[in-house]
Amino acid sequence: MAKLVAHMRMVAGVLALAFIIAISAPVSAQQPNMVNPTADAVKEQQLLQQLNTIQGRVTIPDEKSSVLVHPAGREWRQFHTVTLKWIGGISIIGMLVVLVLFYLWRGPMRVRSGYSGINILRFDVLERFVHWLTAVTFVILGITGLNITFGRVLLLPLMGPEAFSAWSEWAKYAHNFLSFGFTLGVLLMFVMWIGRNLPTAADVQWLKQGGGMFDKTNSTHAPAYKFNAGQKILFWIIVFASAAMIVSGFMLLFPFYSGLTVGNMELAEIFHAIVGVLFVALILGHIYLGSVGMEGAFGAMADGNVDLNWAKEHHSLWAKEEIRVDKVKGGAMRPAE
Ligand code: HEM
Repeated sequence: MAKLVAHMRMVAGVLALAFIIAISAPVSAQQPNMVNPTADAVKEQQLLQQLNTIQGRVTIPDEKSSVLVHPAGREWRQFHTVTLKWIGGISIIGMLVVLVLFYLWRGPMRVRSGYSGINILRFDVLERFVHWLTAVTFVILGITGLNITFGRVLLLPLMGPEAFSAWSEWAKYAHNFLSFGFTLGVLLMFVMWIGRNLPTAADVQWLKQGGGMFDKTNSTHAPAYKFNAGQKILFWIIVFASAAMIVSGFMLLFPFYSGLTVGNMELAEIFHAIVGVLFVALILGHIYLGSVGMEGAFGAMADGNVDLNWAKEHHSLWAKEEIRVDKVKGGAMRPAE
């Protein structure tokens, strides 16, 4: 009897083992097909496409440091390393080409009636100081800003890494600190000249004649007050472009005070860079007209004087005002030395 029970136990054990093997065998046979270990996992590319930022948590006050990866930054880098170079290159080189061609076609705008030998004061010491404060700081800001965009491509191969690093470090200091001088210059210029840059009826006539810029005989001269319509347009573009540069520039200079997110800082940089290169191109046009493009103009910003005939041809309404003041008070006009 005991033997029989022992046999039955053994048979039951073998059957149970066979059953377990029978049900488990198909599972292990199917496993490689059924379980895909990466099926539900998030792939890097998916994350980069869907998330604006990959962010963690931090216990320090600066929330920005919790950003681990900022995928949109790749678009910004593409803009900075490729697109901006095209925009800057086309606008600045394009402007230089236009100016050279214009000069070759037109030559300088001459004083048609020749020099009278009588000087008339066009800009006083304060006006010249403010102009040159703005101009010198602008030129340095322009050169050091362009170094950020084009330096690596244009200067690094010429200068070598060490000299380029040293120059770029100083260029960045200059760019940061001279922004204050430029801001002051633009503010003073705005206050000083706004009254002279409001539109008048004479501006319409000036614009209709294109300011005589395209008349190679130099005989077209629309009447103008101290600033003609072209100069007024330039003045207002300078005011708005400078405001845009100053606001975006200070946001980049003081990121922790401006409270910008990384994404908004990228936008501020894109804006600053695009307005900057267009601004440089525009000012090249101004520098051309204030120097080689117009005979007798540079003196206005050098020692403050222009020839009376220059004044009568380019700014006849202003010249009349000055002659009247000179007759009443004396002193605005004097013989050229
Ligand atoms: C760096 C080279 C520059 C030169 C050689 C130059 C030259 C001149 C000259 C000769 C004038 C007097 C024009 C006249 O008598 O009607 C003038 C005026 C003026 N300049 Fe400049 N300038 C320079 C840069 C700048 C810069 C960088 C700015 C501003 C960002 C600027 C803003 C102005 C303004 C607003 C006026 C008065 C309106 C006008 O004449 O267009 N200048 N400049």
